[in-house]
Amino acid sequence: MKRGNQPWWKKTVVYQVYPRSFKDSTGNGIGDIPGIISKLDYLADLGIETIWFSPFFDSPQEDFGYDIRNYRAIAPEYGTLQDCEALINEIHARDMRIVFDMVLNHTSDQHPWFLASKSSKNDPKRGWYVWHDGRKPGGKKPPNNWKSMITGSGWHYHEPTDQWYWAQFLPFQPDLNYRNPEVRGEMLDTMKFWLSKGADGFRLDIINAIYEDDEFRDNPRSWRLLPSEESPAMLFTNPKYTLNHPDTLAFMRVLRDAIDTFDDPSRFMVGEVSAPLPILKQYMGESGDGLNLTFQFQSLSLKMRAKAVRGLLEDYEEWFPAPLIPTWVFSNHDRFRRISRIGGGILQAKLNAALQLTARGVPFIYYGEEVGMEQHHLPVKYSKDPVALKFKHIPQFIFNIARKIAKESINRDECRTPMQWNASENGGFCPAGVDPWLPMTPSYRERNVAVQENEPDSLLNCYKRFLHARKIMPPLHAGDMTIDTSDAYPSHVVHFIRECRETGGRVDVFLNFSGNDLDLNFPVPLKEIVVSTRIPAEGAIGNGIKLTPWEGIVVQLQR
Ligand code: GLC
Repeated sequence: MKRGNQPWWKKTVVYQVYPRSFKDSTGNGIGDIPGIISKLDYLADLGIETIWFSPFFDSPQEDFGYDIRNYRAIAPEYGTLQDCEALINEIHARDMRIVFDMVLNHTSDQHPWFLASKSSKNDPKRGWYVWHDGRKPGGKKPPNNWKSMITGSGWHYHEPTDQWYWAQFLPFQPDLNYRNPEVRGEMLDTMKFWLSKGADGFRLDIINAIYEDDEFRDNPRSWRLLPSEESPAMLFTNPKYTLNHPDTLAFMRVLRDAIDTFDDPSRFMVGEVSAPLPILKQYMGESGDGLNLTFQFQSLSLKMRAKAVRGLLEDYEEWFPAPLIPTWVFSNHDRFRRISRIGGGILQAKLNAALQLTARGVPFIYYGEEVGMEQHHLPVKYSKDPVALKFKHIPQFIFNIARKIAKESINRDECRTPMQWNASENGGFCPAGVDPWLPMTPSYRERNVAVQENEPDSLLNCYKRFLHARKIMPPLHAGDMTIDTSDAYPSHVVHFIRECRETGGRVDVFLNFSGNDLDLNFPVPLKEIVVSTRIPAEGAIGNGIKLTPWEGIVVQLQR
């Protein structure tokens, strides 16, 4: 079927693989690239079109790959460069695309560049990182009040050279200095290296942190204690000079130009930026010449209520009208798993999938979401996650309260547990008798691929049906969206229309955000039920239909 003239990345569906947790092929309890290759048929069959991999580059793994030691080599525990090339080829052979995770902001402190940089003030690599004298007199205080994203000063003293280096994230992740043209050149070359190997796109890690103020001015004060999607201010400081710097925004155009001029077909970049929608829009460029996509993390905490969903749909349409396009993301390797956030119910998870796969935007599915993988409650004290470890002295009950009230967890291990392939010991992730790097989430015996593949009405099969419908129907993958704000339907129902001007065709989407049966009476007769969260989709009665509790349905009416 014709798929229209829009670039492929606007119509695609992305699946995030966390390599360490996907499939272990060697029996050491750690996922690897050959393991991933063995599961590509599963992803293709599911209906995934693009796969984004969290970093598998050479790294000391202190932040599990987000601390890179060599951008052009693969971490030995995950495989070799040849394995990576095979992965790229195998993905392309299945008509899918591959997205690499680029950590441009910082390297590992074990990267040879940083080792050279810290060796002497006169080393040619000194200027590759952000070094500064401490505050006078004595210089034994950090240069200014800049805080890292993980609380505390982001400045770290290096005694041998009596200066401080800046790290936006953790101390072992020193920031590169993008005011140095050699750094810009090297990192753009690195991206081109992977493009020439076949990368179809990049996910850009904390891309909002690339530049800082070149006068090193103190950040202003703020009243906010905790950050949110609405403001990055926290701990009573507003990161004016360290996040979303005008030079960072200008750099997005440089990146876009490098990607667009590389060669055909088009590639895309999606930026990790935690910010309100107007700022996210700036990252995409006033004339769409910046990042192709940004994550809108506003959806992470979206309430399963019709009013909230309608509101977010409207906000996205307001801020990202075509040719811009929003993303739909509900979980990732840093955040609470969606199904646990919305109460654990399969019906609600199906409805959530229906929303994600039918609204205008690019869906990002986090591995295991399709079988209802839950957050695994793990104590902070014994975490492997370096962010959680920073807070290990705080009593666990405080985190438990935060989890209950805010549905947030400081311990990122909880959402990174091994993929649940089947009901056997270790869930088919690694052989029985081996300790997986993180413990399996207990519900894996019911919530796994093998069990759900055999249940027609499972969450997994619901994902498959919607992914399939989305793939073959232009209104769903390329259409405009009109949100119904009338009161034609019950208030718990979200209704929108997807219509494709390019290829023609229109569908109506109805999502029931309530636990009740609801009657829909259409102005014209029903032509066809395209797909529903339940099977069989019964109840067609000419001009109306009954929506069961939490049902999501796509229909064609006789227009
Ligand atoms: C991003 C990544 C996260 C990582 C951090 C530092 O937020 O998603 O996992 O720890 O950046 O690179």
